[in-house]
Amino acid sequence: MQKNNPISSNKNTQKTWGERKRFLTGVKPSGEVHIGNYFGAINPCIELSNNSNNEVILMCVDWHGLTNKSEIFRPGELTQSLIATYLALGFNYKENSIILQSDFKQIQENSWYLSCATAAGMLERSHAYKDAIANGKSPTAGLLFYPSLMASDILTFDAQFVPVGKDQAQHLEYASDMAKFFNNLVDVEVYTEPQPIIQEIPSLLGIDGERKMSKSYNNTLPIFATKKELEKRVKEIKTDSKGLDDPKNPETCAIFQIFKSFASSDALLYMHDRLEKGIGYGYGHAKKDFVDEHEKVFGTLREKFEYFNNSEQEIRNCLKIGYEKAQNYADSVTKRAREALGLKSYL
Ligand code: AMP
Ligand code: TRP
Repeated sequence: MQKNNPISSNKNTQKTWGERKRFLTGVKPSGEVHIGNYFGAINPCIELSNNSNNEVILMCVDWHGLTNKSEIFRPGELTQSLIATYLALGFNYKENSIILQSDFKQIQENSWYLSCATAAGMLERSHAYKDAIANGKSPTAGLLFYPSLMASDILTFDAQFVPVGKDQAQHLEYASDMAKFFNNLVDVEVYTEPQPIIQEIPSLLGIDGERKMSKSYNNTLPIFATKKELEKRVKEIKTDSKGLDDPKNPETCAIFQIFKSFASSDALLYMHDRLEKGIGYGYGHAKKDFVDEHEKVFGTLREKFEYFNNSEQEIRNCLKIGYEKAQNYADSVTKRAREALGLKSYL
């Protein structure tokens, strides 16, 4: 394509940032949220949103929930509980934004521009697509284009930093590469190459004491479980056979390892000390302390969650605030792309 694009020096290529660093991350609506999600993804995002130097855009990626038809096909039904979770846990949505992917048609538009600047072979080499083929599945075209859609989620909003888990590293490389491919083709800095912030948080152990906490292993503790439900699940946490008065090692004790992800420092010190000394403190006591602390930390938040989860109006207000801010970014980026491509509407 042309090397001397007439808009190379055009002011319209100006980016949309203000004073704050812009972070964007996407979360798939996937039902019940567990302590592993809280520890590995939700809490770090909420902390970012409470730093006034940052602008955090949290996107509920409902379109991505459609790429694997055997898993879930009505992702919209899970949107409200996902957003209610972030609100209850303290995401600062007034200073930042929570947005819904399917509210932004510009994402589809930019996804197409990015796909047209990218070799099909690159998408065929993406981990998720290759794994699906290797496992004898017949992936949808949606899964093939998953990386283009994710790149567009990021690039449509001029995001500078993208916090994700290690499993998303390849998708982030693709987003940067696609931005580069497109910019080189049109010879204009339309899209901003994002920087991944790969979170090196170790996986939280599940209640089987063996594998990471995950819905697919059925070894989770839901954050908003009632005290009764939690007691039942906590009873199942695997322990060794040490008796009431034996000294126990907190580092190999699954109860303590999971407890570490949410307990206050006082509660942690207390349990650590009692386990090590052992005397009169068995695993049953540790489990009871676990449930009490969970109730202290998440009990009042559960009420908030239920409030938001039952109030469509609150969710609408929150999404409206996000939409209004983010719409300007998306329009401005999409305008840059259209101009660089010489696309013009005659309406
Ligand atoms: P999932 O719903 O399993 O796709 O998880 C969403 C995000 O939650 C992941 O990208 C991780 O960042 C985080 N996560 C899930 N399970 C764990 C775990 N056991 N330990 C730490 N982080 C987790
Ligand atoms: N693929 C991500 C995941 O499975 C979710 C996601 C979609 C995302 N779009 C994004 C993450 C944009 C960060 C930025 O976790």
